[in-house]
Amino acid sequence: MINEKLEKAFNDQINKELYSEYLYLAMQAYFERLNLKGFVNWFTVQVQEEHAHAMGMFDYVHQRGGRVELEAIEKPVTNWTSPLHCFEEVLKHEEFVTSRINALMDVADEVKDRAALSFLDWYLKEQVEEESTVGDVLATLKLIKDDSKALLMLDKDLAARTFTAPVIG
Ligand code: FEO
Repeated sequence: MINEKLEKAFNDQINKELYSEYLYLAMQAYFERLNLKGFVNWFTVQVQEEHAHAMGMFDYVHQRGGRVELEAIEKPVTNWTSPLHCFEEVLKHEEFVTSRINALMDVADEVKDRAALSFLDWYLKEQVEEESTVGDVLATLKLIKDDSKALLMLDKDLAARTFTAPVIG
């Protein structure tokens, strides 16, 4: 049976993952407005990944005999001044999520739940990967500046991203 404090911390993180899904859906809509279909595809995959992250924890809380309490999802920002600005916000958000996963692991550590710590290792590695992937796109956008031809080339690259359901835990 999962410790009550840890159960609450998992529920908070499920909410953050669902918020991530919602935020990236807002970003997907932003790129739809710009008609940059490769970016749209990139966010379509990102949205699916965040849903999978939330569901991984949703299933885990149940597996541990806990209770999932869904809370309201915060309204995301829905507009950005440029693709660069948008990706700066993606990186900021992923860094925030990393800090929340670390905080969740602190709670698992505090209540000496080694199984939960081992489960959460996957999320920690995933955050390293996410920050790196987003950082790469951001670095390219900084180089591109106002070069629309280069932006369309990046858009083409981002169209190749595909979703593979992760094996969590
Ligand atoms: Fe689920 Fe992108 O963090």
